[in-house]
Amino acid sequence: MEQAAQHLWWQTGIIYQVYPRSFQDSNGDGVGDLKGITQRLDYLKWLGITAVWVSPVYPSPMADFGYDISDYKGIHPLFGGMEDFDELLHEVHQRGMKLILDLVPNHSSDEHPWFLESRSSRSNPKRDWYIWEDAKDGHPPNNWLSVFGGPAWEWDEHTGQYYYHAFLTKQPDLNWRNPEVQKAMFDVMRFWLDKGVDGFRVDVMWHMIKDAQLRDNPHNPEFREHMPDYSKLLPVYSTDQPEVHTIVQQMRGLLDAYDERVMIGEIYLPIEQLVVYYGIGDNKGAHLPFNFQLISLPWDAQQISSAIDAYEGALPANGWPNWVLGNHDQSRIASRIGLQQARVAALLLLTLRGTPTLYYGDEIGMQDVPIPLDEVQDPQGLNMPGKYLSRDPERTPMQWDNSQHAGFSTAKPWLRVSRNFQGQNVNLLQQDESSILNFYRRLIHFRQEHPALMIGSYKPLYTDQKMIAYLREYQEQRFLIVLNLSHGVCYFEPQMPVHGKIEISTHAELEGSFVKGAISLGGDEGILVRLH
Ligand code: GLC
Repeated sequence: MEQAAQHLWWQTGIIYQVYPRSFQDSNGDGVGDLKGITQRLDYLKWLGITAVWVSPVYPSPMADFGYDISDYKGIHPLFGGMEDFDELLHEVHQRGMKLILDLVPNHSSDEHPWFLESRSSRSNPKRDWYIWEDAKDGHPPNNWLSVFGGPAWEWDEHTGQYYYHAFLTKQPDLNWRNPEVQKAMFDVMRFWLDKGVDGFRVDVMWHMIKDAQLRDNPHNPEFREHMPDYSKLLPVYSTDQPEVHTIVQQMRGLLDAYDERVMIGEIYLPIEQLVVYYGIGDNKGAHLPFNFQLISLPWDAQQISSAIDAYEGALPANGWPNWVLGNHDQSRIASRIGLQQARVAALLLLTLRGTPTLYYGDEIGMQDVPIPLDEVQDPQGLNMPGKYLSRDPERTPMQWDNSQHAGFSTAKPWLRVSRNFQGQNVNLLQQDESSILNFYRRLIHFRQEHPALMIGSYKPLYTDQKMIAYLREYQEQRFLIVLNLSHGVCYFEPQMPVHGKIEISTHAELEGSFVKGAISLGGDEGILVRLH
């Protein structure tokens, strides 16, 4: 598209996250794999996806399902071999799409050779590659807690020191203050970039540097019993340290030596702190620090609309926005707000200014699948039983068709398939014009064909308890988006003359009809109007 030519692919595109264990199994072992993803690329192309982000596929003991890496330059045999990876990359590129890998630089597996060496003796040359500290009066060096429950320090009997792990004891944190660690991880990045990978989603970017003095974290006055144990403290000294930005800049510099590669940062922080990850002044940072507001905020029209405005207002001059509704760590959008309202969410995601990222299965309205206690696999769920923190429900196998195991696998899947798969699968929904899947598809294609939605300006128009209305404009092209975030009827009388055609609606039967003057919407309804 001519007008979008000055914009880069990661600004005009649509990213789709694949959780590889659960997308498509090609060899009948019950676990998804690389060949499986390759087999489904035509589906993603049909949907209108332009970039695929694949969660970790590297060798790993799988204590945290791949986020505990034991070889940064390999492929786990469960997922296939390097030739399968090369084929996937080739096939993605053949279809004019991009491939983004998950990079997990903050921590490795405790089975990574680096850590095995590091823990072998205090004098090992790799000792300082991880964070080792003496006991303080027989206790851990400070009060820091692990995100997955319990203390963040693990005692190593053999060498008589503690090591730091922000996540599992099997995920020791690398010491990013050590230049050798930096060099080793930059080398990993080059390895994949040289292969032709189009960028990285960087895991827990804001965790990478910790306070040099390892000061105690303060208590969180807002902690309540149902919350994860980790929330007892405010991670003031264990995360988001100023020096992390130097590391992010270096990573960016490395990427910029290649053509048009992207760095997305996983960062859970308030907006003011988040936007610093775009870079400071001339120092460039991440292209897309993930903006998780549509995940973290309650689904409330006023809160969401003020968050959009605050975010738009806080973005640095060249900071490109981005939005996301779900991922492998969070309850699915259709479970959080309901299946009908999930369409309104899709309309919001795909009409806001900024790059949208979709989580696999959300396009067919997949919901969290209750997992019986004796089948729970996620360490976050297992470590803090009773707090319902397991992430398994949002990681269940993709529902492709109504055959056994939903077409995901010929064998019993590693995690159970939703009971609803026979009424809710790709094959079935593709044939129904009014399905959520076809709604997503129309919306995606419409966005990609209209510069006003892809790169146009955003102007808030109206908000009340129930609804949000805004304009997207580019040159002569103008769209009005009106969304009802409630289940009840709502009404809006614009201060400006509104005259136009409904191009897209959560309710397919409304598409093509005309709007003039006041607008009333039924519960869970949203419309995109082309203004004349
Ligand atoms: C990120 C990942 C999550 C993982 C954690 C530790 O938050 O998204 O799945 O458990 O990092 O690597």
